[in-house]
Amino acid sequence: MIENKIGKIKNIIDKGTVEYLLNKYDALPKKDNGLRINADTLVDQDFNKKFNKKITEILMPYFQGHVNHATIYSDYHPGGIHSDGWIDKPEQIKLAYTFLIPLQSEYEKNATIVFEETSEEAVTYNQATGLGQKGVASYQQTALPDSDHFVDADTQKKWFPHLEGKLPFKIAEVLTWEVGTALYWPRINLHASAWFPSDSDRKAMVILTNE
Ligand SMILES: [Fe+2]
Repeated sequence: MIENKIGKIKNIIDKGTVEYLLNKYDALPKKDNGLRINADTLVDQDFNKKFNKKITEILMPYFQGHVNHATIYSDYHPGGIHSDGWIDKPEQIKLAYTFLIPLQSEYEKNATIVFEETSEEAVTYNQATGLGQKGVASYQQTALPDSDHFVDADTQKKWFPHLEGKLPFKIAEVLTWEVGTALYWPRINLHASAWFPSDSDRKAMVILTNE
């Protein structure tokens, strides 16, 4: 079982499963949200029970909660700071972790950055940090909170040259990407992708869970 709140699970899937998921991405209908192309894979519907079971089995040795949603996506622009909390109304079962499994990672410095600040509701600061309406599906746009600490200028330049203004958050962890190795953090923790070149191959599966 996972012990830390934020961390990695080395080689959670093998090469064959990476291939299977990339093929699944190719086969599924897709939607563009302005920063990435999403292939919605499920998962709380009957017709996708088989896929849900597969994902649940991948996580089972480490996490025994409920798989609520899984998306395979292809990023073409680094995204903004947000939480993967509930949308519209609180979910019936307590929010658990987000698991992100890189499937393709051409840029060697790909990373996901997790902050200490949290939000139970899915929020995004894309508008407030210069990304406008890009990358926003149904997440609530929110003003940046008041804070007495900020990401320092050098760190911001290193990881978030695509975001504007001072970021009133504290970095908890920088999780670097390796194909097949899962990254995880509590869904309520704010997080963002580190900058990456728009023309590099970058695909991942994100799994949202409940306890
Ligand atoms: Fe997210």
